[in-house]
Amino acid sequence: MYQSYISGVGAYVPPRSLTNFDLEKPLDTSDEWIQQRTGIVKRHWVEGDTSTSDLAVEATKEALESAKLSKDDIDCIIFATLSPDHEFPGTGCFLQAKMDMSGIPAFDIRQQCSGYIYGLSMADAFIKNGMYKNILLVGAEIHSRGMDRTPEGRNVAVLFGDGAGATILSRKEAGADNESHVISYDLHADGAFAKELWTPGPGTGNGKEERLTTSMIDEKLHYPYMNGRQVFMHAVKRMAESLTYTLKTNGKSVEDVDLFLFHQANMRINDKVGEIMGIPPEKVFNTIQHYGNTTAATIPLGMRDAIKAGKLERGMLVGMAAFGSGFTWGSGLMRF
Ligand code: COA
Repeated sequence: MYQSYISGVGAYVPPRSLTNFDLEKPLDTSDEWIQQRTGIVKRHWVEGDTSTSDLAVEATKEALESAKLSKDDIDCIIFATLSPDHEFPGTGCFLQAKMDMSGIPAFDIRQQCSGYIYGLSMADAFIKNGMYKNILLVGAEIHSRGMDRTPEGRNVAVLFGDGAGATILSRKEAGADNESHVISYDLHADGAFAKELWTPGPGTGNGKEERLTTSMIDEKLHYPYMNGRQVFMHAVKRMAESLTYTLKTNGKSVEDVDLFLFHQANMRINDKVGEIMGIPPEKVFNTIQHYGNTTAATIPLGMRDAIKAGKLERGMLVGMAAFGSGFTWGSGLMRF
């Protein structure tokens, strides 16, 4: 019997950092509005010709180093992103080429802010069934170049940042409960809410002759749209629901968990989830203040920063939960 465990963690954000004050003039917003409603203080946005796979390369290098593995030890790539380098092929293939890791399979998955938890479940299943030994699971996003960065798009543009997080899931023989391993996960989706947070184009569902037309660009269909209140309400309910289920099915309570790593969409969402579940605030590690919402990257990025801050150590029981476009949501439990 095999189990998977996280053998390495890495992350990367581009150097250019923008505070809320930097956005005040171009987006007609204010530091006060952003901080009060979201907890975000700054975010990183790329410059020049940096692509999503470039961010993933840096996170991957750090993850390999932390796992003390070489690129040749990796036998599968799972790449979670909603902001790919190109329409196709998947960004996993571009990362693979840049890392010189030819030959191994490369998956791209599309579960937006829940991408990391979905990817974790895939990696764990592949390892448990003996298919692969060391899987590179990456979440990376460049939001900045895909949003309406004018006052018209401010309700979305202030929320998102660019960044990447990478983890390596490795195989081990099943052992004691206190050994590092992925314990459990719980996944959901409800497509009835697909258009509450989405980017319509390019795509075949817009009733146009082509997947991308100049009229679509004029109508700004290539930018994300969000019903913020609807997302907020569902995120709180679903994250708490799923995480409660995961803890219960594993016979664990909030007290047993050492650290909670939540998706970073809004500090108020995470505070509410903590409140509902009775989680002491010091057990939740948030990074949204520094990075905004980096979608598929938030959980591995948080993992890397929690390790650096001395808040995440081997042997700790870690609870995770995420919610995002789709709607998709889920939770996970692991012994780090
Ligand atoms: N700066 C200043 N004002 C802004 C603004 C901005 N960036 N964005 C919106 N506003 C204004 C609106 O125009 C509106 O003004 P009005 O009352 O004069 O019409 C007012 O603020 C309230 O807007 P509203 O959208 O109702 O605010 P809200 O209290 O719902 O907060 C969010 C907005 C986005 C912070 C909140 O809904 C949220 O966090 N939702 C979840 C988003 C999320 O997590 N997305 C990712 C999911 S993975």
